Amino acid sequence: MPLSQFLASFRHAFEAGRLLKCTLGKPTSVAPDDLKNVYLRPVALKKGLLIAFNYRYKNRDEVKNYDLNESLEHLETMLGKEFLNADLFTPDRDFSLSFSKNGEPVLSSKKASHHIAVDTSHDRIKQRLLDPAAPWLHALGITSANGTVRSDAQDKWRQINKYLEIIESLLRECPLPPDARIADMGSGKGYLTFALYDFLKNRMGFTPQITGIELRPKLVELCNKTAQSADFQGLQFISQDISEFQPERLDMLIALHACDTATDLALAAGVRNKARIIIAAPCCHKQIRKELHTRNELAPVLRHGILEERQAEIITDGIRALLLEAEGYKTSVFEFISTEHTAKNVMITATADEKQQKRGDDRRREALEKVAHLKAGFGIKEHYLEGLL
Ligand SMILES: C[S@@+](CC[C@H](N)C(=O)[O-])C[C@H]1O[C@@H](n2cnc3c(N)ncnc32)[C@H](O)[C@@H]1O
Repeated sequence: MPLSQFLASFRHAFEAGRLLKCTLGKPTSVAPDDLKNVYLRPVALKKGLLIAFNYRYKNRDEVKNYDLNESLEHLETMLGKEFLNADLFTPDRDFSLSFSKNGEPVLSSKKASHHIAVDTSHDRIKQRLLDPAAPWLHALGITSANGTVRSDAQDKWRQINKYLEIIESLLRECPLPPDARIADMGSGKGYLTFALYDFLKNRMGFTPQITGIELRPKLVELCNKTAQSADFQGLQFISQDISEFQPERLDMLIALHACDTATDLALAAGVRNKARIIIAAPCCHKQIRKELHTRNELAPVLRHGILEERQAEIITDGIRALLLEAEGYKTSVFEFISTEHTAKNVMITATADEKQQKRGDDRRREALEKVAHLKAGFGIKEHYLEGLL
């Protein structure tokens, strides 16, 4: 009964144009892996008024739009099975449905906590992350003078937005202090470094201190000039080798497409300085490729060069993730942007994990045993990161 009453309130609110939002929380073990919440809100599209379901996974968001009947069917399937809690907000009343451990539903309602107008704009999420009119985007060649994204920079723009979505999600999981100290190692022309600063400062309300570390002095000069003209006082770039960087404090370490073992140098710096969040998008994987002498059942397959190359990438990044786990991090490895936009699209994220850290030596031993087993099977003497750690 409480479930059907909740669904009836949802239907009524939507049909009356009074649905502000609905959130599903407390995922059970039946919920898809890494799905933390689902946020629903009305959205006006060409097809009419639909309901956007924003599925918030650990490291990404996925949005699907449904009509009212489909939405009610999805809610009915998920509530009490995949999620134990649902909150419905209207300008008149709030409704809360929760399920006890033995599946008993309870519905409650109270005075409205939100009195805002119903927002049905389609691109609200994207607008929230970055303002395309920001002058630095023009200075770095991503937008034209009137603030529209240039046609030849569409991939870059997509990549920037995806990157910020991932950061937003990691910060929800692993909050940082408002004056977060961040290093972006191998910052290049700085698109992603500027995007991160703008997002943290102007959208999230942080006062971050971000340092871009880059070997090429010309790029460092360009980035510092652009940071000054954008009045980004907490953003600076230095011309230095990653291995020489010694921060006083480091909360987040970023290394995007830093070449080959430069990624390992950056990861080691993150671990050494106890960064709570580490994000790396590896580039080429030459070190392990040269070391591979496969002795396991994959040997007949890996005599083909291209397959060996791909295997080398998998092993390099897989061992990186295991070594981070040995250091007390929770890790994820995933494709952060479609291969259609760039082939360098694997991302490794690591967040300091108190539970893992409490397991101390056991956790370390288990992860290192897995690394040793992999190395033996593929005839690898040493993974560069292992030596650094
Ligand atoms: C492919 S670019 C990536 C730039 C940027 N992170 C991005 O994803 O758009 C890699 C950058 O890392 C820099 N780099 C490589 N090894 C480095 C090292 N050991 N120390 C500092 N910078 C390094 C290179 O000069 C280059 O600009």
